[in-house]
Amino acid sequence: MTTRAVVTGVGHHLPERVVANAEFEAMLDTSDAWIRSRSGIERRHFAAEGETSSILGTKAAEAALADAGRSADDIDAILVATSTPDLTFPSTATMIQAELGMTGGYAFDIQAVCTGFVYALANANALILAGQARRILVIGTETFSRIMDWKDRSTCVLFGDGAGAVVLEAQEGTGTTADRGILATDLHSDGRFRELLYVDGGVSTTGRSGHLRMQGREVFRHAVEKLAETAETTLAELGLSSGDIDRIVPHQANLRIIRATAQKMGIPLERVILTVQDHGNTSAASIPLALSIGKARGQIRRGNLLLLEAIGGGLTWGSVVLRW
Ligand code: ACO
Repeated sequence: MTTRAVVTGVGHHLPERVVANAEFEAMLDTSDAWIRSRSGIERRHFAAEGETSSILGTKAAEAALADAGRSADDIDAILVATSTPDLTFPSTATMIQAELGMTGGYAFDIQAVCTGFVYALANANALILAGQARRILVIGTETFSRIMDWKDRSTCVLFGDGAGAVVLEAQEGTGTTADRGILATDLHSDGRFRELLYVDGGVSTTGRSGHLRMQGREVFRHAVEKLAETAETTLAELGLSSGDIDRIVPHQANLRIIRATAQKMGIPLERVILTVQDHGNTSAASIPLALSIGKARGQIRRGNLLLLEAIGGGLTWGSVVLRW
């Protein structure tokens, strides 16, 4: 028997306010046509004043718990992937823990920018396989609207706010790729590329939270190459090929990146879960949001083999192969 970390519930939450591309035309030299054609984004959600990452994350967690038929008392640990925490400390994870009414277990944040959920899932898997926890809430939650420079048209039109969550539970499998659960993970970072994508403020530098800065074209170039590479690594580890994948659930940053990566892997776009048009780039929240929406649309079904892949600031990148 082999222990597997299986997704038993998924949920998401989006702020009420939807901002269409056209709204940016009034304040910036940009157009709906440019944003759509360069990024695939049509609209995004922005959090209201006071609507923090922990509030969005708590609602997503509640939805995932309900989907799993679990209560907060059943959970041993909470891992929250976020780059936009409510406060410098305590962690957003402990705030969500308190909101859920959970007094046992432990909770902490993981910071790997847009790869945050993939990092959190891989680490939650490792905790389960090591016997450190049996049920873990893994949450990606972001309020990137708080770190936008609204005068920078090359970044502020690309990001959005939201949260998604999964419940991950230890179950016994047979040790083959027919098992449900996480089958392989692959994580990378290379800090030499930090200038490509960063926030120009922080606690021990400016004392302010700062604004996002990105060399979009360079990030784009790294993205297609590194995403295809990490996908190949996880699949090769399992002796599988891209033809075995039922659905790719990519980080939703840019439709052109998603398309180019799928093409490089020889996977038709119909097998890719796409939410970028409705959410923009929600960083660590984008993959769990896509999982939740893909399931609600009927595109993700029990037994499907999924490839999750992401790249983000750091640079960080990685992938997870799991059977739903
Ligand atoms: N409206 C109109 N014109 C614009 C806008 C805008 N909103 N933004 C930029 N432009 C202009 C530029 O100024 C440039 O003009 P110039 O040629 O006169 O200098 C022109 O459009 C082309 O700019 P590029 O940057 O070359 O455009 P590109 O086709 O590369 O698309 C984009 C830009 C969308 C940012 C793309 O490069 C991209 O998606 N990059 C990757 C971003 C990403 O994946 N990030 C993931 C990680 S995010 C994280 O970890 C937080």
